[in-house]
Amino acid sequence: MTSEPSIKIFDTTLRDGEQSPGASMNISEKMEVAQALVDLGVDIIEAGFPIASPGDFEAVRTIADNIRGAVICGLARSANDDIDRAWDALKGAEQSRIHVFLATSAIHREFKLKMDKDEIIRRAVDSVRRAAGYCPDIEFSPEDASRTEIEFLCRVVEAAIDAGATTVNIPDTVGYGTPAHIGGVIRTLRERVPNIHRAVISIHCHNDLGLAVANSLAAVEQGAGQIECTINGIGERAGNCALEEVVMALRTRHDHYRARTGIVTERLVPTSRLVANITGIQVQRNKAIVGRNAFAHEAGIHQDGMLKERRTYEIMRPEDVGLAKTDLVLGKHSGRAALADRAKALGYHLSGEQLQTVFEQFKILADKKKEVYDADIAALIEQEIRDVPETWTIAGYRLVAESGRTPTVTLSLKRGEEEATEEVTVGDGPFDALFHAVERVTGVEVVCRDFNVHSVTVGKDAQAEVTVEVEHGGQIFRGRGVSTDSVEASVRAFLNAVNRVAASLERAGTPLAPKVAGNV
Ligand code: KIV
Ligand code: ZN
Repeated sequence: MTSEPSIKIFDTTLRDGEQSPGASMNISEKMEVAQALVDLGVDIIEAGFPIASPGDFEAVRTIADNIRGAVICGLARSANDDIDRAWDALKGAEQSRIHVFLATSAIHREFKLKMDKDEIIRRAVDSVRRAAGYCPDIEFSPEDASRTEIEFLCRVVEAAIDAGATTVNIPDTVGYGTPAHIGGVIRTLRERVPNIHRAVISIHCHNDLGLAVANSLAAVEQGAGQIECTINGIGERAGNCALEEVVMALRTRHDHYRARTGIVTERLVPTSRLVANITGIQVQRNKAIVGRNAFAHEAGIHQDGMLKERRTYEIMRPEDVGLAKTDLVLGKHSGRAALADRAKALGYHLSGEQLQTVFEQFKILADKKKEVYDADIAALIEQEIRDVPETWTIAGYRLVAESGRTPTVTLSLKRGEEEATEEVTVGDGPFDALFHAVERVTGVEVVCRDFNVHSVTVGKDAQAEVTVEVEHGGQIFRGRGVSTDSVEASVRAFLNAVNRVAASLERAGTPLAPKVAGNV
């Protein structure tokens, strides 16, 4: 009897996922996500690309030094400095992996690398050998593998394994593959590469044609032993293979795939919400597995069937993916222990100090709202752990808006002990005027790219969550604000984004001149 293959789940939310515009996370946010990924049961966490920036290096090092329970991986190009830097960041991990990549397709060889096939093989071999000198767990990726000539791909893979690669990852970098194509590539590698049994074959699909999950499953059918994916499928352009979808496909259609993963599927929805809250990239309502409508049956005929027997229209149970039937509701008499318990169930790991602050905020909110739902608690926690230096905070505002008239805003912001106030009569509406006032006081000019208001829970007294995306110096910055007052939530969100811009300018050594000489 042959035992069932176990498929390794390699999560790259913190590396490839973070590359999606506006999804960048700070170190404490990355630590939250990394811990949630361990709780979810992923095998490998790709924590970042250490040479990309000092911030990336610090994030990978902090995760490697502190997170236990998964292999921690760092990405490196096939270059000595990249590999050395990756190892420097990873060496404190319980188990580390260096992931080296080099493009192999004709178009990349000719235009990007200007290298011929033999040079590519030499470079790949040298890099894998260097990385293998640091640690035994080495992954090699021939970038754009799906558009690489199959004979050459086989040569590169064989050489990388001989040089010490223990995992060979096959990226569909531009999301060009189809299930038959990707399945064929994996089958050919297994048939033609003589040393292929010495490495795990991994699959890494982008979703440009909406086929990333289907392509990853096709690879598993042909013997891939690792899937690279991200929570909610976030990633560059159309994103990466969605972890929750591919895992639930393997589980629900176990009759067909006959393979298992170590994922605790009940953690899928909490982890999805955590990543959506942290990145500000919400999932669409009809998103498979984790969308709000994924288990909602509206059609009368379906509801009738469901009442008679759930399995008539339900192929997975909501509880299997961690979708609680009803939120556990807390109120003003709930204590710290109940709050700590809910925070843990939602996937957060709060320090004693953080819990105390969130508890104080929770009490204020519970006084305003009768019932406090999970989403309210998540929103409060997000505010606490966000860890953006609060260069400016709101001291107060007054807004006069009337139909047919230009609104007037008087806004006071604090920077340290000093306060600055601006009165402006501008804009197309109250939010526009408020944002202008923030720009005036802070001196930070941005282009607003996105502005969303949504209610965190149900009811007229629900908290409003506002997310904004602004552009400054060609970079995207996100901001988020929560309040039962949607105007205040908007100012908070905009100011949060502006504070991120200020922090980035500070890091780059070009801080803004303070504009706080009393009232201006
Ligand atoms: O899509 C890609 O090719 C990648 C590699 C670095 C694995 O992300
Ligand atoms: Zn990728």
